[in-house]
Amino acid sequence: MSKDVLGEVYGVTVQKGGVGKSTFSQALAYSFANQGYKTVLVDLDPQSTLTGAFFGYSYGAFSQTEDNGSIEYDVSNITNIFRDTDVEPIVVKTTKHLVNPNKGKMLQPHYLEEELEIDFYPSNYQLLSATESDDFTRENKIQLLYKFIDSLKTKYDRIVIDSPPSFGIITTSILKAAKAILIPIPTKNVDTDGMVGFFRTLDKIYITENLKDLSKIVLIPNMFDKRVTDAKETLTEIKRIPNLLHETKNLRNLSCKVMDPFPQKACIQEAPSFKLFLAPYIMDFHRSQNQDLILKIDNIAKELTN
Ligand SMILES: Nc1ncnc2c1ncn2[C@@H]1O[C@H](COP(=O)(O)OP(=O)(O)O)[C@@H](O)[C@H]1O
Ligand SMILES: [Mg+2]
Repeated sequence: MSKDVLGEVYGVTVQKGGVGKSTFSQALAYSFANQGYKTVLVDLDPQSTLTGAFFGYSYGAFSQTEDNGSIEYDVSNITNIFRDTDVEPIVVKTTKHLVNPNKGKMLQPHYLEEELEIDFYPSNYQLLSATESDDFTRENKIQLLYKFIDSLKTKYDRIVIDSPPSFGIITTSILKAAKAILIPIPTKNVDTDGMVGFFRTLDKIYITENLKDLSKIVLIPNMFDKRVTDAKETLTEIKRIPNLLHETKNLRNLSCKVMDPFPQKACIQEAPSFKLFLAPYIMDFHRSQNQDLILKIDNIAKELTN
């Protein structure tokens, strides 16, 4: 397959777990695909949350053999990145929806009974041992991961990558390939030291790791619930981050945008247990109350690409 224009890589990255990285990765990939971009979603977290959500965890799948036995197989061949072998995506089928422009008052997402396919690279826990093995140097491992991500740019318009909750080899390679990163920050118990540490490391490696493509950071205050004490103060703190970045040596020229807070909603937790992307889940089960979340995610996607 050949393409004249190179696709763009968006990493959902921060060294903390449980903040919404996997949630926004799948929701963003869906949004891009729904807008008609050829999109791929890549799970580069060895903990494989997304892979688990769509397929059950690795080694959980069985296939029938010719003599009616069954063999266990792993849906992910992601560790082929470190071998001289192809890594293959899986096609996830979902349903498309359309924002109805005719209703006047409110933009309402409406279903089109049309299938939507999104390529997905599942992960597995072996990715962790692969990144820790002594077979390659740290630089080689970063380079191999980077080359894999970079190769996707000729095949897709939008490449969305879910990251592990650490700042190691995998995250570094994602940052090297990314045009923009999305950082979800929970608005309860904000870990200010952790955030400052993340940006300090990012500032440090911006030059040493040559993050030349990275031009934008989008922050999303997540799990916002105004009834929670401190939620508003936390939000104020998050809104100060762009100023902090302007005081750093290397990140001062990056664009940094804080999105409107994203609410704490039960449907977000439920969608993966139905093996559904967030938007189709909302359309099926929560149409009246939560469709504004779909529009919020479309806005985040727009902000990342701007
Ligand atoms: N806005 C939200 N409202 C409710 N639950 C959320 C929200 N964002 C994330 N979650 C839930 O929080 C948990 C952690 O989110 P996840 O995306 O897996 O985080 P990470 O990938 O950063 O570890 C998941 O159960 C997810 O469904
Ligand atoms: Mg995750």
